[in-house]
Amino acid sequence: MFPGEIDEQPVTHLERIGEVFARFGADTQDSGNISYGVQVGPERYFFKTAGVASDTEPYLDFEARQELLRNAARLAESVLHPAMPTFHGVIESPGGPVLVYEWREGELLYAAGDQPDDPTSAPQRFKALPVDELVAALDQLFDLHADLAKAGWVTGDFYDGALIYNFSERQLTVMDLDSYRPGPYRNDMGRMFGSSRFMAPEEFSLGAPIDDRTTAFVMARTALVFLSDGTLDPTACRAIAPQYAVLQEATTTRFPSYAAFYDAWRAAS
Ligand SMILES: Nc1ncnc2c1ncn2[C@@H]1O[C@H](COP(=O)(O)OP(=O)(O)O)[C@@H](O)[C@H]1O
Ligand SMILES: [Mg+2]
Repeated sequence: MFPGEIDEQPVTHLERIGEVFARFGADTQDSGNISYGVQVGPERYFFKTAGVASDTEPYLDFEARQELLRNAARLAESVLHPAMPTFHGVIESPGGPVLVYEWREGELLYAAGDQPDDPTSAPQRFKALPVDELVAALDQLFDLHADLAKAGWVTGDFYDGALIYNFSERQLTVMDLDSYRPGPYRNDMGRMFGSSRFMAPEEFSLGAPIDDRTTAFVMARTALVFLSDGTLDPTACRAIAPQYAVLQEATTTRFPSYAAFYDAWRAAS
């Protein structure tokens, strides 16, 4: 459907094949990547690029940004799940790889710095949903991670900025899992990338093993952020008691695997 290779810069190509209706660049992203929402005929797509080679402001240089996108492409090729946008492949260009995804409507469940408690913000409206609807969205997130864990993918840099919720369709979309890694790995940074609200202790400890037990912790933290106030205060948590018990175990004594966490979560629900 899309060419495997183009000989012009991504944005030039995209403006020629369709209507660019959204751009995610340095004004909103600190990744250095530049992405586009493009209407091509009747369909909308999300195109992701490693941005401008001369942009050395981001933590990762252009080479490393391209490698991360190739990693994201491998992840998208290895797991098909309704919570992830359909992946349409990679276009090779003079500006590096261009990843092509389905465009997903919805609102980002991450409120940028200024007003985290604004009740009209998407994350606050998500938190205020009827608890059954909220749990159904988390079930989608957890089910996706069961497939990712089975395929050997381990969490990295997961946070609420990877979640889009479509409030009218009640559909959760998970994107930007570019920093997930194949198989267990060792903490090679000390404090890994990420938002501390979601991170496991091993993500702060140089040399510590990071594996699907880490993924279980991060997913349980995600549930505590949305179903509670981000703490283990049982009175703040909207989950039923057996679900709360699973989230508590996942973030204290821990589960031995992601599968064990997910089985316990389903048994509790
Ligand atoms: N498939 C998609 N459909 C619609 N919007 C998307 C999609 N994927 C990402 N986005 C939006 O684009 C933004 C940037 O994409 P992201 O993958 O997070 O790039 P970056 O690597 O720059 O963080 C996201 O914050 C989200 O709002
Ligand atoms: Mg992002």
